[in-house]
Amino acid sequence: MKDQQVNINISGGAIEKWRGSTLAIAVNNDGKAQKSLSLCGEPVKNEVQRLLKDRWISGKAGETLLVPVPADSVVLAQRVLLVGVGETKKITPEGLRALGAQLYLACKKHNISSINALFALDKHNGIKGVNVIELMAEGALLSSYKFEAFQSKKDDDKKKPTSIKITFASKKEDTSSAKKLLSKVEKICRGVALARDLGNQPGNVLNPETLVEQASKALEDLPVKISVLNEKALTKKGMNGILAVGQGSATPPRMITMEYRKGGDRPLLAVVGKAITFDSGGISIKPSNKMEEMKFDMCGGAAVFGFMQAIAEMKLPINVVGIVPAAENLPSSSAQRPGDIIKTGKGVFVEVINTDAEGRLILADALHHAESFNPAAIIDFATLTGACVVALGKHCSGMMGNDDKLLEALKQVGEDCGDRVWPLPMFDDYQEQIKSTVADIKNVGGPGGGTITAGCFLSRFVEDSRPWAHIDIAGTAWDMGSSKPHFPKGATGVGVRLLCSYVEKNFV
Ligand code: BES
Ligand code: MN
Ligand code: ZN
Repeated sequence: MKDQQVNINISGGAIEKWRGSTLAIAVNNDGKAQKSLSLCGEPVKNEVQRLLKDRWISGKAGETLLVPVPADSVVLAQRVLLVGVGETKKITPEGLRALGAQLYLACKKHNISSINALFALDKHNGIKGVNVIELMAEGALLSSYKFEAFQSKKDDDKKKPTSIKITFASKKEDTSSAKKLLSKVEKICRGVALARDLGNQPGNVLNPETLVEQASKALEDLPVKISVLNEKALTKKGMNGILAVGQGSATPPRMITMEYRKGGDRPLLAVVGKAITFDSGGISIKPSNKMEEMKFDMCGGAAVFGFMQAIAEMKLPINVVGIVPAAENLPSSSAQRPGDIIKTGKGVFVEVINTDAEGRLILADALHHAESFNPAAIIDFATLTGACVVALGKHCSGMMGNDDKLLEALKQVGEDCGDRVWPLPMFDDYQEQIKSTVADIKNVGGPGGGTITAGCFLSRFVEDSRPWAHIDIAGTAWDMGSSKPHFPKGATGVGVRLLCSYVEKNFV
């Protein structure tokens, strides 16, 4: 991730100076190139139109075709990359993100180190030129992410261009606003990349302690104050939820708090993220199939770190506290047992039915800790339940909470930014399922409604009057058979863009 894979620029007007370059142009699914083709001069236009007529490319979304044009001083482009956009009337913001990703991936495939893209000069179902650039840039940045910290460099890779330069043509009058949007999107995508980098690291490298080190390093030059509670401090505060989960591991748990206060007397938002650096299930051990994917069980926390970095880099005028409870869930002779009863920081007694339902135990203390800041709202992210993957799959996260306005706002921004969330009900009846005969509540409420009963458990640790949303990212936090061109395999960084869009629309 460290060396930048794509370098995006904006150029207002004067495309004549792009003589001899590689140009990217959109093709609709009716096999017609967008209007901007006519800017490329007759020889290029004729050649492209001949290929379109012969159906070398149909124009369906995501299709690409690289067309060489005979080199000649009067010809504007040396090569044209045609990129399918599908049916104009069906173009969506998410479709434009995918298009940006496809543009980047096609450049990579064809070894194109620099390309000039005309898309923003064309019509895309009513989406403004500046937003076409913003969305395509976002897609290109998201798709160019690579996690190669643990791969030896191959000779082949050394020959490939290390960074691909994409220059978007914009209308002259749009240039400055397009540049502002681009700069914002770059910071958000850096936040996503941080979340992905943390998420992708294996459990032997990333543990609660090294997570603190890496997060501190990422935030070191930014106005974010970090404080960390170690085992001693957690014990003093009676945070036995997180302590119990971590007690089976040689690496002890940490509660990480980050404060960013640049919003004057504006309300404070608290964001909380589950960070189990590896979830074996503990004594209630998981089956071995896909257990390696449980290194991703800290992606809620990763989203919080990525978000904190992004808002600080954007210098948003807001107040945010980020809280990440970090622990490793392993079986050992010191691990907690099924049947154990623990007293959480809030004083609620919890019977541990299953040590694999550990996320809610660390979140219980983290939410209680968030309460101590008296925030205007709390949003938590967690890879909390396998049941959520069954219910919703990987195309949206599950959402629960106690405040319709907050949930509606999150649903709306999720739709806009691409990190979609979908509400699940939290009727009081579900609370019955977590009643315990020996303690106040138990940590498993199933078998029915596993995602909701986990949400019910968390609800016991926030004040009823405090707007709170819980987002279960179990299905969306990583993708091993990536279905989207802007989501490379591995951690997705889900939550970072949702939170950034949410604060931008609701807190700024
Ligand atoms: N981290 C898991 C949830 C999970 C499972 C996320 C699969 C993504 C994919 C969580 O800690 C867990 O193990 N939950 C249990 C709860 C159960 C024991 C009540 C689950 O979902 O099976
Ligand atoms: Mn678990
Ligand atoms: Zn877990």
